[in-house]
Amino acid sequence: MANKKPQNEEQNPEVTRREFLNLAWLASLGFFLIDIGAVTVLFAFPRFKEGEFGGRFVLGKVSEVFPEPDSDPAENPKGKFWLSRLEDGSIIALYKVCTHLGCLYNWQGQEHKFICPCHGSQFQLDGTYIQGPAPRSLDRFVVRLLDENGNEVAVTDEEGLALVPPDEDLQVVVETGQLIRGRPSGEKYPTSEF
Ligand code: FES
Repeated sequence: MANKKPQNEEQNPEVTRREFLNLAWLASLGFFLIDIGAVTVLFAFPRFKEGEFGGRFVLGKVSEVFPEPDSDPAENPKGKFWLSRLEDGSIIALYKVCTHLGCLYNWQGQEHKFICPCHGSQFQLDGTYIQGPAPRSLDRFVVRLLDENGNEVAVTDEEGLALVPPDEDLQVVVETGQLIRGRPSGEKYPTSEF
């Protein structure tokens, strides 16, 4: 027995094709709008919460969170940074990850330098490269200093140079989403010891 096609399709195959194309077009438009919506939401809201790595860390006053000049740096494990205070009183937030292959380096108080346990790269208190296979000095995060009304008074510059706090009572904010790459090994900072 021969198969019979439905009467409608035989009589008007164009309608079916047009309907299909319309549906496909509507589906594409729908996906496009969903994409636009998702991107808008991502930009409208910060991706990382405050106090979460990738976001901003609101700490206490400069005098409370940074150590004495040229003394052992303070570690912030959650934010993955070290807070260093240099001899001239300037401050830096150093990303805790070694610039060689990404190990977590440590501060060695007796030697007064950071040493990476993986392949022995060494860095000064301000993150300047000393020796080892690391290709550059330690990376830095942007530090902001805010007054009591939340106004920004000082901020790390584009080069990531150590920031001299104009006032020890300013509030410290470390932006772990804003990383400044360390200078190539052999290139010094104004704060480098040698
Ligand atoms: S990962 Fe630090 S020296 Fe290799």
